[in-house]
Amino acid sequence: MRQKKILMLNGVNLNMFGKRDPVQYGTITLEEIDARLQALGAELGVAVECYQTNHEGEMCLRIHQAFTEGVDAVLINAGAWTHYSYGIRDALAILTCPVVELHMSNVHAREPFRHVSVFADIVKGQICGFGVNSYLLGLRAAVTALDG
Ligand code: DQA
Repeated sequence: MRQKKILMLNGVNLNMFGKRDPVQYGTITLEEIDARLQALGAELGVAVECYQTNHEGEMCLRIHQAFTEGVDAVLINAGAWTHYSYGIRDALAILTCPVVELHMSNVHAREPFRHVSVFADIVKGQICGFGVNSYLLGLRAAVTALDG
């Protein structure tokens, strides 16, 4: 059987994890998060590709490519785009595979503008507030959704 492929998308400013706002995001870097995801992917028998960009149009293009490639599931931490980007929402809505939205911090315990996700009603589910474990739980949720 073909190995399932999961695409992890990281949006704006997330390349600065490790340096930015340690109270919210700890000190783990995005490279370390990617490595943790790869290791869990290997354990679960799925291929994980991680992508990060600070450019909204590039993120839309990567989502279009995910549709064309036929990836099995998408995980996304879109950073601040989560709260206002209808462009990324529309791109995600093109996908027919499960999409899991995740955040390191508990966005509901922060400023009111972070309480809104413009992706909320088109994703399979959301995970937030568990730091790096939000990523690992997101991967487990996607794999479970595919198995189910
Ligand atoms: C974030 C939460 C967003 O509100 C914020 O803009 C980020 C990171 C998180 O992972 O907790 O950049 O998505």
